[in-house]
Amino acid sequence: MTYRVIQWATGGVGAAAVRAVLRHPDLELVGCWVHSDDKNGRDVGEIIGTEPIGINATTDAAALLAMDADCVVYAPLMPDKKVVADLLGCGKNVVTPLGWFLPTDRDARLEAVAQEAGVTLHGTGIDPGGITDLFPLMFSALTSAATFVRAEEFSDIRSYNAPDVVRWIMQFGATPAEAMAGPMLGLLTGGFTQSLRMILQGMGFDRSAEIRTHQDVAVATAPIDSPIGVIEPGLVAAQRFQWDAAIGDKTVARIAVNWLMGDENLEPAWDLGAAGERFEVEIKGDPDMLVTIKGLQPETPEAGWLRNPGIVATANHLVNSIPYVCDAAPGIKSYLDLPLMAGRAHPTLSDRP
Ligand SMILES: NC(=O)c1ccc[n+]([C@@H]2O[C@H](COP(=O)([O-])OP(=O)(O)OC[C@H]3O[C@@H](n4cnc5c(N)ncnc54)[C@H](OP(=O)(O)O)[C@@H]3O)[C@@H](O)[C@H]2O)c1
Repeated sequence: MTYRVIQWATGGVGAAAVRAVLRHPDLELVGCWVHSDDKNGRDVGEIIGTEPIGINATTDAAALLAMDADCVVYAPLMPDKKVVADLLGCGKNVVTPLGWFLPTDRDARLEAVAQEAGVTLHGTGIDPGGITDLFPLMFSALTSAATFVRAEEFSDIRSYNAPDVVRWIMQFGATPAEAMAGPMLGLLTGGFTQSLRMILQGMGFDRSAEIRTHQDVAVATAPIDSPIGVIEPGLVAAQRFQWDAAIGDKTVARIAVNWLMGDENLEPAWDLGAAGERFEVEIKGDPDMLVTIKGLQPETPEAGWLRNPGIVATANHLVNSIPYVCDAAPGIKSYLDLPLMAGRAHPTLSDRP
């Protein structure tokens, strides 16, 4: 069976998702929504830098809603619940890296829309939506009597090709007070808290655990050359966000991200450690486990501006989930509901993409 797919937005994740759809043997791209007027009407292949593929991008959401399609890869900058409801309401399954990793009380309306239309909404990605929830749950099957679970990212944020986001939303280059008062902790908390709750639920920890959030900053001690310009001494050059699930005085699950503008000239003197950029999943149990995931960060900050493997992996996780999501029962479905979802082999094994 071939599943008909619409791509919603062609930023970093969206463009990589189009490539993954084109390579997937069970998927066919049938439409593409873009936000930018200058992409309206252009061939999608041209937008993502490949050969023309005969599908023109459009800013006309209504035309795409009316189109016959099985699934939408919804990857714009910010989530719009009305658009997601419209997509579900007209009978399209939705996969997205923007939320809905685990349904919450606030999702009752979308759940009802999906049920009514007989379709499924699934949030996935890497962080959150993979490394922070699926992988800890999967590795936990190798332990017993687990007492603590941790998923943590260690990245050089200079490789993130979104300077406006890094400067004005993430507040790098701002004063510590500005960064601490900025929107980032709030923006991140929704998704990462869903990951924490999925771990609690999936592993049988007390679901009433208290979620505690933390944000710390490190400042430059000398001018740091960065993609957002020189960060002067005293201004924010590294940030750490952490979410803990605590039962009484015991922290049972932790998710953290460490984003550094390189690891020199920082106060406190944070660094990426001998293992460098990576993701880690740790479980304290019998036995203890530590899994280090390499390869999802680019080899250099400059390489990340051309192709960021973490963004590609996010897109792949979305696209690979499509057949399973289309076949799932209606509603908002998490990894706790869906079967094992695998990637697909190269058709000829002849070269690497
Ligand atoms: N869960 C995860 O692991 C994970 C990983 C990576 C990213 N994400 C999230 O996924 C989303 C997309 O990431 P990205 O790296 O692809 O971002 P991006 O490169 O900034 O692209 C976002 C796209 O959204 C569209 N857009 C821009 N302004 C918009 C607006 N005002 N309203 C609606 N759409 C707008 C544009 O599409 P067109 O160019 O087509 O016009 C833009 O290219 C972000 O929210 C990001 O935080 C999640």
